[in-house]
Amino acid sequence: MSERRTVVITGASRGIGLAAARAFADLGDRVYGLSRSQGPAIDGVTYISVDLSDGAQIEAAFDRIDEETGRIDVVVANAGITKDQLTVRMSDDDFRMVIETNLVATFQVMRRSLKKMMRQRSGRIVCVSSIGAYIGLPGQANYAASKAGVIGMARAMAREVASRGVTVNVVAPGLIDTDMTSVLGEEKVEAMAAQIPAGRLGTADEVAGSIVFLASETAAYITGAILAVDGGMGMGL
Ligand SMILES: NC(=O)c1ccc[n+]([C@@H]2O[C@H](COP(=O)([O-])OP(=O)(O)OC[C@H]3O[C@@H](n4cnc5c(N)ncnc54)[C@H](OP(=O)(O)O)[C@@H]3O)[C@@H](O)[C@H]2O)c1
Repeated sequence: MSERRTVVITGASRGIGLAAARAFADLGDRVYGLSRSQGPAIDGVTYISVDLSDGAQIEAAFDRIDEETGRIDVVVANAGITKDQLTVRMSDDDFRMVIETNLVATFQVMRRSLKKMMRQRSGRIVCVSSIGAYIGLPGQANYAASKAGVIGMARAMAREVASRGVTVNVVAPGLIDTDMTSVLGEEKVEAMAAQIPAGRLGTADEVAGSIVFLASETAAYITGAILAVDGGMGMGL
């Protein structure tokens, strides 16, 4: 890998993606954040406005990054949404929208990344799934399906590219203190936190640390793995 890596992070405008962007920038990497809105100004981080529901915008962003740096060393497929509703009340649109953003766009990001990484014969992809893929929280049939899909997809890809020096791994966060969880309301979050062995929510920085590790040289022999960052919530997953 080059000394200053090119790192692409989807959903870097806030939350876990933003924490990851800061962490890679702190290491001196050249970071590109892909999301609809911009995050805060950080040295070494360039935001590109991308709506991931549009595959053409994903391709255009990667083309630009490729032109500017000539490399794609690390890709963090992090962007995701929730549209929670009990199954009997969940609309087709809300099911499809979550699958489109969390799974289909992640596929498109990974496919584009792998084309470049296989030619380079090096690369690291880290996908952000969720403990929800395993434990299936009520109201999250769409989200759990999308996040379980990410795991299966990442493992299939990991097998395809392992011999080319490319690794594909998954981070599975538990309950993390970001905008995504703040919409649940204090009471629900407190009740959920009481079920977590660590007794608290995780921080975006704690998830970012695991992402940085899986993207590092040290992790060269780890592929197809799932690293839970969940305070013990899914113990033994
Ligand atoms: N927080 C948790 O407890 C938790 C637990 C397990 C897994 N996760 C997963 O971790 C990842 C990050 O979550 P978070 O908590 O950091 O969420 P967040 O604070 O809500 O941030 C979500 C990010 O995704 C981007 N995004 C969403 N839809 C997009 C679209 N159509 N096009 C481009 N960007 C889009 C958002 O950017 P814009 O809105 O600017 O486009 C934002 O940067 C997600 O995949 C989530 O499922 C989170």
